[in-house]
Amino acid sequence: MRICQRGPLGTRLNNFIAGRPDTIKNAIPDVFKANTNASPNDVAAHVGADGLTRVERPEFRGPVSYGSLKLATRYLLSPLAGFTTLPFRRIVRNIGGVGLATTDLVNCRALLSQNERTMQMIQTHSEDQPFAVQIFGSDPEFVTAAAQFLEERGGVATIDINMGCPVNRIAGAGSGAGMMCNAGGTISLVQKVVESVKLPVSVKMRLGWDDDNLTAPFFAKEFEQVGVCAIAIHGRTREQGFSGAVSRPGIRKVVEAVENIPVVGNGDVRNVADAAVMIRETGCHAVSIGRAALANPWIFRQLEEWERTGSYSPAGTFEERLQLMLRQYQFLAEQHPPERAIILFRKMAHWYLKGMRIRKKLRGDFQFVKTTDQFDAILGKIRQEGPVGGNRTGVLTDCHIPVPSGPVDKW
Ligand SMILES: Cc1cc2nc3c(=O)[nH]c(=O)nc-3n(C[C@H](O)[C@H](O)[C@H](O)COP(=O)(O)O)c2cc1C
Repeated sequence: MRICQRGPLGTRLNNFIAGRPDTIKNAIPDVFKANTNASPNDVAAHVGADGLTRVERPEFRGPVSYGSLKLATRYLLSPLAGFTTLPFRRIVRNIGGVGLATTDLVNCRALLSQNERTMQMIQTHSEDQPFAVQIFGSDPEFVTAAAQFLEERGGVATIDINMGCPVNRIAGAGSGAGMMCNAGGTISLVQKVVESVKLPVSVKMRLGWDDDNLTAPFFAKEFEQVGVCAIAIHGRTREQGFSGAVSRPGIRKVVEAVENIPVVGNGDVRNVADAAVMIRETGCHAVSIGRAALANPWIFRQLEEWERTGSYSPAGTFEERLQLMLRQYQFLAEQHPPERAIILFRKMAHWYLKGMRIRKKLRGDFQFVKTTDQFDAILGKIRQEGPVGGNRTGVLTDCHIPVPSGPVDKW
């Protein structure tokens, strides 16, 4: 197996850094384009007369634990920078079925300097348990100190190290996916973090840098040896960004590389049938879901119900989504002044309104709302108009889930 080298890679990365900075954090819905990957349709979903959807269940592994922490379900919320904030985590937790939720990626240095925005990112709530903080950094001293800081602060159940972020300013600085290019340094960093805290430490990574460097099985094996409690694996390479299909055989290799720790399969799981395929084809112990949770925050409850019974209830109706949206705004307003909360809410509202089948013009107008009066007025309009081609209390059609667009070296 080849591990990509630091020298030439450094040059390539420097070239990448000229690309657009800060993309994931500041991504607004308009820069997303449609994901053209076909949904795996080799697991059929049948809606019965009782309104429940039946999907054949695969063989499930035993209950999932992160070290001594037993997770209530095997369905995890995958970090989505700018979206998986405390208000959204509370929303999916309130609905149910989430085994573990994670913050967006948090900069170790910013955490240690107790930067206000970063401290907000690690804020949690009694409803938001168990809760993981995902950290990134390339300097072992800072990453270790950040992990110790989190442990001493309390309220955090596990720490996740980000080894998958493809964004230039992170990967180019040797953090995120860039860690896959420095095997020795990375394994030693992860070992130091594990040894410096009592909390369980997991790692989230991609399959490798590119198709010639599919190093995830190698890293997973090494990480298990140094005491990592779990591996989450997004079944794409860094080079792929979000293009192409997730490689389930690639995820399976990671599952096969470890002996005892759980592997969390991730990527393109949009519904229960997709999760069934992921579990069946990879043998993964758990599944993490990112984008689909934005379109359908009920997905974790559906998965839990399905695992228990073989069928699951529909996602929320228009009315239920409207209530959910208002609740999330209230959670945001607990953290921020109302007009700041409105601006922060725009990103999420885009998804909610799409899921609610609100006509495009009204969705667009929502993005310009600034004051609480305007907010109330547009919600009044949304409530009055209801969904296009649907009804307020029935099942809504699935919402299409997009991905960041363009070549990854331009992010
Ligand atoms: C907008 C956006 C932000 C993301 N932010 C993070 C992040 O902060 N940390 C991380 O490990 N992965 C991040 N990811 C990757 C997701 O966690 C996940 O691995 C990926 O979206 C594939 O899963 P999905 O198909 O269920 O969304 C992000 C993805 C997107 C689209």
